[in-house]
Amino acid sequence: MQFPSSLLLSVAAFAGAAAAQGVSTYVNPAVPTGTPIAANYTGPLRPQVHYSPPKGFMNDPNGMFYLNGVFHLYYQYNPTGLGAGNQLTLVNSALGPCDEQRRLHVGEPADRAVPPEERQYVFSGSVVVDANNTSGFFPNQNNGVVAVFTLARYNEDGSGGPQTQAIAYSHDEGYTFQYYDRNPVINSTSSHFRDPKVIRHGDAWAMVVAYAQEFAVGIFTSPDLKQWTWASNFTNHGLLGAQYECPNIVKMPVRDRDSGAVVDEKYVITLSAQPGAPLGGSVTQYFIGDFNGTHFSTVDAATRLTDFAKDNYAAQFFYGVEGNPISMGWASNWQYAQQVPTGNNEGWRSAMTLPRVSYLTKAPRIGWTMVDEIYDPKPILGDSLASKTDMGNGSVTVDYADVASGALYVEANVTGIDVAKATSFSTLNLTFASPASGEALRSGFYLGGDNPFFVDRGGLRGFDNVFFTDKFSVTDVYYDGAADKSAAWRVQAVLDRSLYEVFVGGGRHAGTVLLYPSQPLTLLTVAARDLPPGARVSVAVWALKSTWAGLADEQGTVVGNVTTKAPSAAKRHMVYEGEFSA
Ligand code: FRU
Repeated sequence: MQFPSSLLLSVAAFAGAAAAQGVSTYVNPAVPTGTPIAANYTGPLRPQVHYSPPKGFMNDPNGMFYLNGVFHLYYQYNPTGLGAGNQLTLVNSALGPCDEQRRLHVGEPADRAVPPEERQYVFSGSVVVDANNTSGFFPNQNNGVVAVFTLARYNEDGSGGPQTQAIAYSHDEGYTFQYYDRNPVINSTSSHFRDPKVIRHGDAWAMVVAYAQEFAVGIFTSPDLKQWTWASNFTNHGLLGAQYECPNIVKMPVRDRDSGAVVDEKYVITLSAQPGAPLGGSVTQYFIGDFNGTHFSTVDAATRLTDFAKDNYAAQFFYGVEGNPISMGWASNWQYAQQVPTGNNEGWRSAMTLPRVSYLTKAPRIGWTMVDEIYDPKPILGDSLASKTDMGNGSVTVDYADVASGALYVEANVTGIDVAKATSFSTLNLTFASPASGEALRSGFYLGGDNPFFVDRGGLRGFDNVFFTDKFSVTDVYYDGAADKSAAWRVQAVLDRSLYEVFVGGGRHAGTVLLYPSQPLTLLTVAARDLPPGARVSVAVWALKSTWAGLADEQGTVVGNVTTKAPSAAKRHMVYEGEFSA
């Protein structure tokens, strides 16, 4: 992102200091510390099954790790404004361990890792679990946690100063951190060197980090997370945009497309780029290849995108997940993230995507593909609102005005089509409308020709911005998942007030779409037209349970996270308690 100069000025005016365990730190006095931030999550645009900050501006997910039954998520956060600035990351959003199930824990913390000095910001980074105490920070434990992140300095005149890589460590599984007293661990004079993501590879640590405006992903190795050695660069791959940001590297199973069995494993580098995406603004691409701990080589020269729409950026994979990796992204785009109407209307901006579960496969026709499945939504499903197994060329209408969350999960499948008989009029549409205002979000399949799936947010009137382009589509979306191996189309969709996420073809294509109706959408119509004889259409619709409602007090206020692991506090501030199981 580029720092708006007005923000820089106000940041420069901040004063004050706080001590964090022997290392002096600088705290903007306007930033509340030591106290949870309370907020109301009932606004008509506030997503109910996606994470959004209580107030202020959020961007990249950071420091994601899984340990002892808890998923931890931190994020870039400006609690004092509705645009980027005053970045704090490593905000302590972890909550106490919770029985039985694996949980996703996110939230707004009371205690934050703050930059060591004035005009220095904590930019994006990652977290690892140092189970073998390679760092020496954890002589008596195997659950030590180390954060690796960028310290971004800005000069008095607002220009960018050096970006260096630093570490902080935590003895309590990520609830509180202490700065390493010999930071930075990777020095630099570049003002565009940022966003380290660290993984374990063999007996060493490996880092990918962006030389943002040189279009290179640097690969470093380390025995102890403190001393880092440059090993190689992955340079000038894919879409450059105007800078590379937030690289990730992750080991991923390769699955047979029919049986789902693991047949191999590869590595994936995901790489965000912005501005300058083909659809405008921000985009995330990925590369499939092999990684030997120091060098990454791709299986081919292709550039692939994680999404076909434009609102998923800077996604990160959780450290410590076995099997299919799990990621979440920032559900926005720098082209309009700081203008969207949730800011003026409700005092917050940006949400995270739903968690996605990924593997590699060779899909028909398009070959190597990272499949992004929706993380099992069952735990958040509420009432079944409709279920038809053979709709034919008919329709299903669901008035969900009385669903408290305003959020729906929809599955639709089309099978048994003789593809040669499908025409350009053969469609299956999912339309979410506001009868009050006449607005509608449209999406669906064209089953003939190149079989595109589309989403059109152009029928909504709550946000007028030239960059908020409105139509997205992806082609070749049928998949061979039907039991009889005939062509099959499948979509799983979550509509969550101001966010629409679609997983098409079992996750072979995914799209994240922000939407801003002027009135809530309350009427869903799923309709099939001109399908050739033999086509079978099934549709199922569920209400989604609000993850926030259970946390609110009588006034509807949700109090942000606290940093203690005390069960009572954890209970009180849990965001997704019981709603994500693995
Ligand atoms: C990407 C990004 C990162 C940076 C962070 C600052 O959205 O620009 O490169 O670390 O945001 O908030």
